[in-house]
Parts: sequence; C-alpha cells; structure tokens
Amino acid sequence: MRSLNRRQFIASATALATLPSSRVFADADADLLSAQEVSVQLLPADYGPTTLWGFNGNAPGAEIRVPQGARIKRTLRNALTQPTSVHWHGIRVDNAMDGVSGLTQSAVQPGAEFDYDFVAPDAGTFWYHAHNMSTQQVARGLYGPLIVEEADKPDIDREEVLVLDDWLVNPDTAQLDNDFEAAHALSHAGRIGNFITTNAAYNLSLKTRKNERMRLRLINASNARIFPLQLQGLDGWIVALDGMPLAVPQKVTEAIVLGPAQRVDLIVDVTADAGETAHLVHLGQQEAFSQVAFPVGSGGATTRRADPAALPPNRATPVDLGQATALTLNMEGGAMGGLRTASLGGEEKTMREIVDAGRFWAFNGAADGMDGPPLARVGLGEHVRVAIRNDTAFPHAMHLHGMHFHEIAEDGSLGPLRDTTLLERNTSREIGFVADNPGEWLLHCHMLSHAASGMMTRIVVA
Ligand code: C2O
Ligand code: CU
Repeated sequence: MRSLNRRQFIASATALATLPSSRVFADADADLLSAQEVSVQLLPADYGPTTLWGFNGNAPGAEIRVPQGARIKRTLRNALTQPTSVHWHGIRVDNAMDGVSGLTQSAVQPGAEFDYDFVAPDAGTFWYHAHNMSTQQVARGLYGPLIVEEADKPDIDREEVLVLDDWLVNPDTAQLDNDFEAAHALSHAGRIGNFITTNAAYNLSLKTRKNERMRLRLINASNARIFPLQLQGLDGWIVALDGMPLAVPQKVTEAIVLGPAQRVDLIVDVTADAGETAHLVHLGQQEAFSQVAFPVGSGGATTRRADPAALPPNRATPVDLGQATALTLNMEGGAMGGLRTASLGGEEKTMREIVDAGRFWAFNGAADGMDGPPLARVGLGEHVRVAIRNDTAFPHAMHLHGMHFHEIAEDGSLGPLRDTTLLERNTSREIGFVADNPGEWLLHCHMLSHAASGMMTRIVVA
C-alpha cells in the first residue's frame, strides 16, 4: 500500500514541475453559488483525481473579491445530496445573512436555493464556508476566499491569496477519508489531514524577483491544523490579523502561528537573490518544509522600499474594560481532560452518557452545544469581556460570529482585533468587544470536530 508521507511528497514535488490543471470553470452567472460535487487532481498526478465538494465547478470555491462597502449578493443553489448553508467568516453581516443552519436560517435542502444579500463593511481578508455539518462539508472543500479591498491600496507590486489546508486522504483510492465523525478526531485534536496544500496544490511555486514587495493574504481553511510558519529569503511585516489592520505593522521576527479559520496579511520584500528560492516555511513537528516556494528570477529592483505603512483601519469602537460586563467560559473535556460529568438537556450526565450522545466537550459544564441556552444575553451597545479558560489537553481556536473582539493582554491592554483566538492547552485568554451587532451570534471552537461535539455556544445581542 502506498503511504502518503511528507518525504514522498517533497520528493515528488521536486520531480513534478507542474500539476496539470484540473479546474473546470463552469459558465455560471456571477450571482450564483452552486454547491456541487467536483473532481479535482489534488494529489500528485499518478494518484488519480479526488472527489471534493465545491462551488460553481471549483473546489475549493473561487475567490470572491469586492471593494469595501460593496453589496454581496449570492444565490446558493444546493446541487449536493446533503443540506448546506454558507457562512461569511469574519464579515460583520446582518444576523439573518450569517448562514448558520439551525440558528439564523434552516439548512438549504438539496435542489433548493437561498439568497444571501449583505454589505461588506470592512476591508480585509475573509473567507466563506459551509456552516451545516461543517466537520464534513469544510473538509470536503466547501469554502473559498472572500477579499474586501480597501479604497486606499497599499504600495505593493502584487498580491497573492494563499489558502492553507490539509486533507485526510486514503492514498489507495485518492478519496477523502469519509469517517468525518471519527470519535478519535472528535475527542482529540480534530480531523488532521495527511496531505497539506496551498491553494489546493501541494507544490505551489510562485515566481518572484529580488526586492519585489508582495502582499500575502494567508487563510487557514483546515478543520483543525495549526500552521506554524516562517519566512525564508523574505523580510515581512504583519499588517492585519483576521482582516483587521494593525495600527503599526509588526516586523516578523518569530514564527507566525495560524490557527484554524485565522488569517494573516503580510507585506513581504524578497531579499533572496536571483537564482535562489525564497519560501514560506512550514515548521512541521519533525522538520521544516516548503509551504510555498518563491523562485527568484532575474531583473529585480536594485533597491528596497521603505518599511510599509499601516493599512487604513476599519471602523471599531474600542471596548471599555472598566464598564464591560464580565463573562466566563470554561472549556473542559476531551481525551485526557479528566471531565467526569456534564449537563446535557438540563440533566447531569456521566461522561459515558455524554460520549454516547456524541459529545466530548463542555462549556461551563454543559455539553449541549448550539442546542443549549446562550452563554449570555447582552444589550445592544453593551461592552462585554469574556475570560476564556482552556482546561483541556488540546489547543482550541475560539471564533465569535458577527463582531470582532480585542484579545486582552496580560497587562490589561487591548491587543489586536480578531474574530478567532487560539488558546494553547491549559491557558487562559480574555477577549473584549462592544456588542454592536444585534442577533444570535455563535461562539465556538473552529476545530470543527470540537464544535460538533460540544464546543459551541452563542451570545444573544438585543
Ligand atoms: Cu468560520 Cu461558525 O465559523
Ligand atoms: Cu477545539
């Protein structure tokens, strides 16, 4: 049996210069988003194609790109055999357009349609993805980048959108492992793939030149993988996190850690010389390997530009921690977590009973997920702080719908605005936000196996 180990892929990556394009561009009208099965040459050519789920004949879905403030209208047509919906991750939408099946809309049945229509108020790097049975549907490829351009564009030579993912593939069949609800993934680190790609290619290579300045928009679309990344032959600055510009670009001096659903916008200058190759390096557990290669051609500029300026900020009211309502969210459970009992449907249950119900995790002692009562009901405009404690043996990427929040630093100062915050095992983090968007907003772990097995609640803003 052939095994998909990374060494083999690094070897085949050097052997195969390019992959044949497997994209089928359907002649669809611009406003239609047709969720359908797509056959894609995901693995190296000699493995045969993989069946994925995507939109309009692309899997993953094609980029949606609009100017800031534009209205986005898409009719989701479900040509799959399973109900689905689309969530616009990180966009501060009206609640009715948030795409959460079972909360803000019913799932769109096979053969049915749903009209999404909303304004994109913030410029930045976002993404869209299925929000029904997400553990399965996102793993199958039902997602794409959503880029909102600022009116004042940064001074760059070019831009690249880089969507990072990992796929759990059976190398014998070239098909995805279809045990999407595997108990091990639910109770441990989530569905971790054995085949890592950027823009659905395992050997993405982008030609560049010395001193070229690129904006790299990185999106982690994986179900559960945390990507630790490093720049090689590139000088870089973080200019935005989760779509929100930093007030001051932050020079990259250490690993960039990108949790599931998180984004980072980098501005990088190529410092490698002609004939060399710069890399976005993936710091794997055993070894580092190239996530994206940037071979440097001749004819680059002879001088470098000045350090980049900050991107124009998006509208945001800073949270006033002094007046903020304080909430706590204790995350417990999972393998090696030591959780003995939790409540489910209002009754105290043993862990065995919880597991029999398909749940492994609890928020504040309850394993109900989206079916339970909300974490809180807060008033429109109320300032809120949530002390999140990860009392489990695994990291979690906590995502709030509808509003960005500040990560609060140890010294109480307001850190960057994010929509997804990564908590390592046995750590705490406080977040704070102004509840300025009315509706029912999910707060859940974006390790999608965890979200499906208890790590989900919501905050009601009214
Ligand atoms: Cu990226 Cu609840 O979603
Ligand atoms: Cu989690």
